[in-house]
Amino acid sequence: IDRRESRQTKQRLLVVANRLPVSAVRRGDSWSLEISAGGLVSALLGVKEFEAKWIGWAGVNVPDEVGQKALTKALAEKRCIPVFLDEEIVHQYYNGYCNNILWPLFHYLGLPQEDRLATTRSFQSQFDAYKKANQMFADVVNEHYVDGDVVWCHDYHLMFLPKCLKEYNSNMKVGWFLHTPFPSSEIHRTLPSRSELLRSVLAADLVGFHTYDYARHFVSACTRILGLEGTPEGVEDQGKLTRVAAFPIGIDSERFIRALDQPKVQDHIKELKDRFAGRKVMLGVDRLDMIKGIPQKILAFEKFLEENPCWRDKVVLLQIAVPTRTDVPEYQKLTSQVHEIVGRINGRFGTLTAVPIHHLDRSLDFHALCALYAVTDVALVTSLRDGMNLVSYEFVACQESKKGVLILSEFAGAAQSLGAGALLVNPWNITEVANSIGYALNMPADEREKRHNLNFIHVKNHTAQDWAETFVSELNDTIVEAQLRTRQ
Ligand code: G6P
Repeated sequence: IDRRESRQTKQRLLVVANRLPVSAVRRGDSWSLEISAGGLVSALLGVKEFEAKWIGWAGVNVPDEVGQKALTKALAEKRCIPVFLDEEIVHQYYNGYCNNILWPLFHYLGLPQEDRLATTRSFQSQFDAYKKANQMFADVVNEHYVDGDVVWCHDYHLMFLPKCLKEYNSNMKVGWFLHTPFPSSEIHRTLPSRSELLRSVLAADLVGFHTYDYARHFVSACTRILGLEGTPEGVEDQGKLTRVAAFPIGIDSERFIRALDQPKVQDHIKELKDRFAGRKVMLGVDRLDMIKGIPQKILAFEKFLEENPCWRDKVVLLQIAVPTRTDVPEYQKLTSQVHEIVGRINGRFGTLTAVPIHHLDRSLDFHALCALYAVTDVALVTSLRDGMNLVSYEFVACQESKKGVLILSEFAGAAQSLGAGALLVNPWNITEVANSIGYALNMPADEREKRHNLNFIHVKNHTAQDWAETFVSELNDTIVEAQLRTRQ
């Protein structure tokens, strides 16, 4: 088999993720769709040499056939194919198994503990729903698959999918990529369905993670829990090798850099500069998720203000907290907790004319976000755990003129790529974060510039596009190599 030859024919790429990159709103018989223009979407739908389609859940319940047909038709124009999940499945699979069990576990927050008996019982029904939902995704993939396609499955929602796909067709080229951390095998082994999930993922030809550590943890889980052999290439089971490797993601940096010159963004920048004149701007942009460490971050800011009275009217923290997974009780509790802390600190340090924390429970549009990144003096990305964290990348991309400081959690995947320029912190150590805030605000210009340049070069040179292309071409190579091995 000539590798170049296998590359020359234009392949189709089927991207399978829990969520389609669209928000769909029903207006009577028709649908209005807004495609989200993030880096991941342009990377996945824009992989050169491949014609990509995206398969996933549209995030809405469409019980009737007429609605489903209309939505399918509207989505086809955006190269998207829907998987229809009913409310009960969404509740058990998405809210339950994905977001209440796997998500916290993979971020080292453990399994739910409130009512052990109830949890154990609902655990099984949620896992059954998870498998059922994954099978529904597999059915849709199978319906659209033609020989030679590459199928790329994404994230913790779809760990069961590689197995389902290979059961349909053992020749299907299947890759699986995890966007969260993969935890230490000691954490993974607490999961009741630990072995079944690992075995399903191993059905893929190539398994990818953001960092080398996550890949290593996955291989350890397979060796320790399943008793398989780990090799430098991946995991081997009775002669079948599953390649395991790290593929750190990036952003579409040019999109952010270009946006800064647009009049809309310039107007926002001017407004923000006027609004916060005479004060240093600190910024947090996170989904309102317990892994993001928002309460800990705000408490560290409070400690900084407490210990540095001279800064009280000279600095403001803007915290954008984007609501997410609002049907899951843990997320509802977090919202109240954050509101309570912000209210207390603003009451304590606010004056008649200014408050130290501006907290927003919503997302910002792209232009407002770029402007905010550009006027920021210190960004606080202090996740308790995070697969990669692309907010840190976006901030760096928008800082060419300001050269602000990035305070970054050592537990975010991004610490491995932006660690040289950022101030790394342990987000659990509130004193350390408070001290880093002081250090960042007082940092001399030459040190800021040196640190920024290191990170800017990285963000510019490691794009989402490169990430997607590397993964897909490695998946093709993995298969070609496997074919060569069987022919020998
Ligand atoms: C994380 C996950 C993604 C997910 C996103 C938003 O980044 O890795 O797979 O899409 O959060 O969460 P949501 O539950 O709203 O899709």
